[in-house]
Amino acid sequence: MPDTTIERIHAREVFDSRGRPTVEVEVTCAGARPGRAIVPSGASTGHFEALELRDGDPARLSGLGVRTAVENVRSEIATALVGQNADDQASLDAAMIELDGTENKSRLGANAILGVSLAAAYAAAEAKGVSPVAQFREVWSRIDAQAASGEASVRTARLGHEPSLPLPMVNMISGGLHAGGNLDFQDYLILPVGATSYPQAFEWIVEVYNRVSRLLTEAGHEGILVGDEGGYGPKLGSNEEALSFVVSAIEAAGLRPGDDVCIGLDVASTHFYSNGSYRLAATGDEQLTSAQVVDLLEDWVDRYPIISIEDGLAEDDWDGWQELTRRLGDRVQLIGDDLFVTNPARLKQGIESAAGNSVLIKLNQIGSLSETLTTLRLAIDNGYWPVVSARSGETEDTTIADLVVATGAGQFKVGSVARSERLAKYNQLLRLAEENYPYCGGAIFESLAR
Ligand code: PGA
Ligand code: ZN
Repeated sequence: MPDTTIERIHAREVFDSRGRPTVEVEVTCAGARPGRAIVPSGASTGHFEALELRDGDPARLSGLGVRTAVENVRSEIATALVGQNADDQASLDAAMIELDGTENKSRLGANAILGVSLAAAYAAAEAKGVSPVAQFREVWSRIDAQAASGEASVRTARLGHEPSLPLPMVNMISGGLHAGGNLDFQDYLILPVGATSYPQAFEWIVEVYNRVSRLLTEAGHEGILVGDEGGYGPKLGSNEEALSFVVSAIEAAGLRPGDDVCIGLDVASTHFYSNGSYRLAATGDEQLTSAQVVDLLEDWVDRYPIISIEDGLAEDDWDGWQELTRRLGDRVQLIGDDLFVTNPARLKQGIESAAGNSVLIKLNQIGSLSETLTTLRLAIDNGYWPVVSARSGETEDTTIADLVVATGAGQFKVGSVARSERLAKYNQLLRLAEENYPYCGGAIFESLAR
């Protein structure tokens, strides 16, 4: 039996893809190499996310330092967990949640807790001599099935059983808070639903991405500069124009829009919502009601090969979400990101009120591996498609690539195919693709009326 007793926990401040400080943690089991993880960070964050603890000292790094979170790992958390079993993920996470004692991990910091949670999984893998996928697989298999509401759908019947390679959902054009407010909507993405293997899916994406650049440049726009997640950040005449560029790029790559490659949107609408209305700025100042946003999205779904819409409505607009789901839920994947914040309680509320049919899964929104996997289980057991996602602030850490394969979650959203903090994940998937995991691809959407 390998010894998985935690011998040492160490943390340091490192920097993410936006040059902002973040937490790196190393957990070491007796006689093994350290397990290491780096915590990501969002920009268009949801109000209900667990708290990312920042120092707030205006004299240093604009208050964004994470020395307090680092110190919390080195002192309080290390004292509590050294001597515990790194292979018992549930107990470690429960112990940290109890030690923190708040609803949203605001005392010790979700960044401190998540860093330890993930580094412990890697430490256990090191001590046992198994791969991260194998370790995450084991932790996933210990997560209890979640009570299904009524008709636990056939929608997700393929997901969560065996490790598998995911269908990627990839940014072509970026706007909103990720690209300087050039467009109101945050991501215009593609989903290569017709590809029959992960490597083929990825090649198609790269081909389309290159065509987007060429088409933008030919039309006199900036087709080289990219946003936080590597999507191009042109200043276009309207939010809709971005959609036409993406469709043209799919065609220019010799692929069929709607059959080979579909479109996804992350509207990220919480960020232009206030006092009950949605304020669009790309074409002058326009104020839309929730119902008008649903009309706009339905019109786009009628005219473009859109298969997925994230945060079409704001994190507080539950009525709007129900209407959106009634109108489009059988044709389109409707992902809650800011709405659900990877939180099982919020996802339960969504399931009970039929809001959305999919959930974005971001580890640092909830702040521990165990809780993240509980939300993922809850989603699959209730017919909600999970989409494992990066943040706009990322690093070389590849945890989510191993995690999406280990859980067989089916979909992956990491940003574009430029910028190495994104490619670190895609390249890890190409390595894993050599291990011949099955690939379900666009077949996960077979229940949609298209
Ligand atoms: P964020 O963006 O990491 O800035 O929240 C990602 C997303 O909205 O999906
Ligand atoms: Zn989002």
